[in-house]
Amino acid sequence: MTAFAGKRIVLGVSGGIAAYKAVEVCRRLMDGGAHVIPVLTRGATRFVGRTTFDALASEPVRMSLFDEDDPIPHTTLGQTADCVLVAPATARVIGAYAAGISSDLLTATLIATRAPVVICPAMHTEMWEHPAVIDNIAKLAERGVHIVGPESGRLAGGDEGAGRLCSPADIAAAVGRVLDSGGLRADMAGLSVVVTAGGTREPIDPVRYIGNRSSGKQGYAFAEEAADRGADVTIVTTVDRPGPASATVVKVDTAEEMAAATVKAAKQADVVIMAAAVADFRPIDPVGVKLKKRDGVPAIELETTPDILATLGAAKPHGQTLVGFAAETCDVAGNAAAKLRGKGADYIVANDVTAENAGFAYDTNEVLVLASDGRVHPVGLRSKRQVAQAVLDLVVGDRHSQAQSATQVADGTSRADNQENQ
Ligand code: C5P
Repeated sequence: MTAFAGKRIVLGVSGGIAAYKAVEVCRRLMDGGAHVIPVLTRGATRFVGRTTFDALASEPVRMSLFDEDDPIPHTTLGQTADCVLVAPATARVIGAYAAGISSDLLTATLIATRAPVVICPAMHTEMWEHPAVIDNIAKLAERGVHIVGPESGRLAGGDEGAGRLCSPADIAAAVGRVLDSGGLRADMAGLSVVVTAGGTREPIDPVRYIGNRSSGKQGYAFAEEAADRGADVTIVTTVDRPGPASATVVKVDTAEEMAAATVKAAKQADVVIMAAAVADFRPIDPVGVKLKKRDGVPAIELETTPDILATLGAAKPHGQTLVGFAAETCDVAGNAAAKLRGKGADYIVANDVTAENAGFAYDTNEVLVLASDGRVHPVGLRSKRQVAQAVLDLVVGDRHSQAQSATQVADGTSRADNQENQ
């Protein structure tokens, strides 16, 4: 049985280009046995026809606050829902909901419900990063509204950036977790998680640097997944992109800066996820003025950067889980196993960056997770968010079993002590 079976889900659809993906969300919820009631804004109908939802959902589309059969449709919907999902949620709907303004059936239902609410924002990067939207999202997150996404990627009009609606599979999975637990799975509540993301930039001169192809997407997916599961997240990132609403973001550029910020944050962390692609070499002596072509080809001497993962591995506090990454181009398992031993990590998440649709810049990934006790977990091609979910499932599950066996050992010891004392 799925988490959706027999549940009444109000599916709010607002007017963004991503509204077409709500059709797939609707189908997935229906396939899982949910009773889906679609509530569309007027804007949504500019992007997707009512007939589509009428045909797919459990009930016909609702749009009006003034229904002939039901004089108070918003309270009926709000009171009887097991979950209200808005996908996509536009800046307008998010703003109205945060401010408590009900100007249509969807916003009125949001304000009239006590059921868990899942909001999946989708908008252009400029809008998503506007201080008003950032404040509104923070306000909703504080009130316990579940914010799922957005992801980074291709947007309407060919632009790239943060603001893309999460995949229908990820949205359905998030709703499933909400329904399963009466809230998104809060299995990381109380845990402090540090995530590094992006590629470092090592200056050659004031305008040039040595960099790499890392997009930071996998690191952000970890930060988002951990935050949604209730963790207190710090993201140390080279990417100019806001993290999850509740996260602390520390922006860095170089390996040296990332080392300082990560070592500091890791002191108090329960879980450290080193998803960043940290440069291994940097110019010894970056020059203070731009190198000129007329001066000929420069000889740039390199030195090694601090190995952050190895530093953290060597000084790992008791009970901390350290996850390293290995971006490999050959012998993925062999190189990752060597890294696991050499760096003092508890897990290495290895991927073949030459594989199709996996690694740098893609929205999908395929990895092999090696644990320090020799277990190997292959995670097949899926969204980076789902990869993060699979790795965190493993981390959380192992931490749970370790805590349980520590309690049993403690119990055994105290029983033995008691017997001795008798
Ligand atoms: O040895 P390699 O650099 O391939 O190991 C990759 C892992 O080590 C990643 O988790 C990366 O974030 C981390 N790393 C690091 N400091 C470096 C280089 C890599 O923490 N200077």
